[in-house]
Amino acid sequence: MKPGFWHNRWHENRIGFHQAEVNRFLRRHVDALGPQGTVFVPLCGKSRDMTWLRDQGRAVLGIELSPLAVEAFFREQEIPVDRVGRGEFLEYQAEGITVLLGNYFHLTRALLGPVAAVYDRAALIAMPPAMRRDYAVRMAELTDPGTPVLLVAPFSLKDPDSGPPFAVAETEVRDIFATHFAIDILESERVTVDQDPGLAEQGLAWREETVYRLRRL
Ligand SMILES: C[S@@+](CC[C@H](N)C(=O)[O-])C[C@H]1O[C@@H](n2cnc3c(N)ncnc32)[C@H](O)[C@@H]1O
Repeated sequence: MKPGFWHNRWHENRIGFHQAEVNRFLRRHVDALGPQGTVFVPLCGKSRDMTWLRDQGRAVLGIELSPLAVEAFFREQEIPVDRVGRGEFLEYQAEGITVLLGNYFHLTRALLGPVAAVYDRAALIAMPPAMRRDYAVRMAELTDPGTPVLLVAPFSLKDPDSGPPFAVAETEVRDIFATHFAIDILESERVTVDQDPGLAEQGLAWREETVYRLRRL
């Protein structure tokens, strides 16, 4: 996806991926992120999960392309924030939460600093197949061996080239991450139209949410 696609989505408020509640898999599996240290949240949107993680005592570092998303996050969560330029990025600094405004694919280790863990919900479904491999490679570049990653990825039976949201199958998660990460599945849950009426709008009867625990090799 080109950045313009996401800028438009936020501009038109077409953000069906955003969850009003804290992600239930994050609550269930937060231990997978280890006991302490900064949690990196790539493609963070305006996710409330960041505030929840901070409230668990974790420092949080998100990255997001859309200024509308980042501004909305701090405004809606009523968190006072300072804005500091860092090269091509704008860094939003608040108590316990930092968000870098810019492109994940331009992020370097120097900019990111050390991270203890990664929490990724719905980042992969935001990217077409070719970009997902680059996403995984960059995640390996940005993390130290041993770093745990909690990955929540929805999968549905739909044309794999149509999206976003794109369907991301377990075979693909294994394929793109296996070179640099050990991979375990923590759980998989099927969500039907009754539970998520938004699925019908995408012509889907169900989707499966799979929760992976990766560990950087
Ligand atoms: C499907 S949404 C998921 C958002 C969030 N993880 C959540 O759970 O609500 C994907 C987000 O990634 C952002 N995004 C897409 N490409 C990006 C990139 N290259 N760098 C940073 N953010 C990006 C989009 O603006 C969008 O907010």
